[in-house]
This record gives sequence, C-alpha cells and structure tokens, in this order.
Amino acid sequence: MTGRQVTVFDPADYAGGAARMIAERIVEAISKRGRCSIALAGGATPMPIYRALASKGFTPAIPWDKVDIYFGDERAVPPDHKDSNYGAVRLVLMAHAAIPTANVHAMDAARPDRESAAREYGEALPERIDVLLLGMGPDGHTASLFPGSPALEEAERRVVPVVAPKPPPERLTITPPVIAAAMHVVMLVTGAEKAAMVARILEGAATTPAELPAWLARGGTWVLDKPAASGLKEGGLAHRKPDKTIGF
Ligand code: 6PG
Repeated sequence: MTGRQVTVFDPADYAGGAARMIAERIVEAISKRGRCSIALAGGATPMPIYRALASKGFTPAIPWDKVDIYFGDERAVPPDHKDSNYGAVRLVLMAHAAIPTANVHAMDAARPDRESAAREYGEALPERIDVLLLGMGPDGHTASLFPGSPALEEAERRVVPVVAPKPPPERLTITPPVIAAAMHVVMLVTGAEKAAMVARILEGAATTPAELPAWLARGGTWVLDKPAASGLKEGGLAHRKPDKTIGF
C-alpha cells in the first residue's frame, strides 16, 4: 500500500471520479510494468464505476488487452446467478469493453471442492496485485472477510473458503496477506449508513482486523462520497494532502 489518501466526491460525481482514479492507477502500472492486474470488488457500490470505466470515450483510455482481471471474493453460485460477482461485473464491464476473455479470471466458488478452487485461485493471483478494489459493509466487513472470521487469522493461504453471515453464505475470499501485498488498495464506500464505520476506521481508536476487517485497508486510498465521509472531521477535508486536490 502506498499510504493513506482520502478523496471525497459529491454523490453525482462519485462514479466518474472514482473511475478516473482507478484508470490512472491502471495506466500507471502498464506504463511501468507493461501490464496491470486488478482485483474487482463485488456489491452494489462499484457497479456504476465499472460502467463508467467501460464507457465510450472514457479518459484516460484503458488498454484492456494489457489488464488482467481478478476478483477479491465470490459467492458459491453459478455465473448467471443474480448474486454472482462475476455475473454482475460481466454485465456492466465485460459486455461493453474489449477485454480478451483470457484476461478475466473468475473465482470458481461454485465448485463442490471449494478448498481446491481456493488453492488454485491463490496460486493464479499475482504476488502483488497492482490495483485491489475493495468495498465495505456497515459492519466493517471487506471482500468476504467478516468480523470474527477465522480467515482473518490466515497468514499463508491467499484465498480461502468462508461461510459468511450474510447470504449467500458459501464464498471464496482473498485473505489479509493479499491485501497487505497489493500495490494500491482502493476502498470504495458510499452512503450515510456507512459513515460511522468509516469514521471509526479512519479516525477512531486502533482496532483489530478481527473486529473490523476493513481496518486492513486503512493504509490505502479511500474513495468516499460526501454522505460516507460525513462522520469524518471536516467531512474528510482533514485528510487532504496539500498536493491532492482531486475530488474536493
Ligand atoms: C461482496 C463484497 C463485499 C462488498 C461489501 C459492500 O461480494 O459482497 O465484495 O465486501 O464490497 O459488502 O457492498 P455494497 O457495495 O453492496 O454496499
């Protein structure tokens, strides 16, 4: 991770602004290393962002043939199920951008042997993901790492099966070492119902990932809308770095 940054957008500018920040990191990785690996978050928050990234004329333009797409978590449902993260992303991103099929690495969470699916996915994931997108639930969960989950203790395995307290329960998720190793972690949070949790993680007393898993991303880039930032000192402005004016 590259050090905490907090960016706050008006809700109307959120999807476009977050998409631009993500695209800049993708383009930067490609210019440095020739390719970019990105792990996508599930849930509702990132979908308009993915749609923006896939839109015609979006700048900076993304050379999708050089982007390898992974997932941070997946539910044990078929790809065309309404709860499939891959299925949701396919509709808003893959269906609209020229992304080679071979570049998209879906997590096979529906495989009956989820242990082997997790192990294989962990082996396929790059050592350090260039851009790791995460979301956060109001309970502080991130990816499918929920408070109190044994997966939060994982130090070796990179992807593990979990049983989530939220349906659908059977899932695969990345583990803390994958988050810690990522080059850029981008935490995407919107909505007033998450404001208290955002403030607790960014400005509250130190906690543990077992209590609040999203704390694992505290050193990353937090991209918030104003309602999600409303519990922060000065609505998030207190976190602004002098050279970072984007979004404020
Ligand atoms: C998932 C996620 C999960 C999500 C949060 C926030 O597959 O459920 O990856 O961690 O990001 O639950 O979800 P919303 O964006 O829908 O609030």
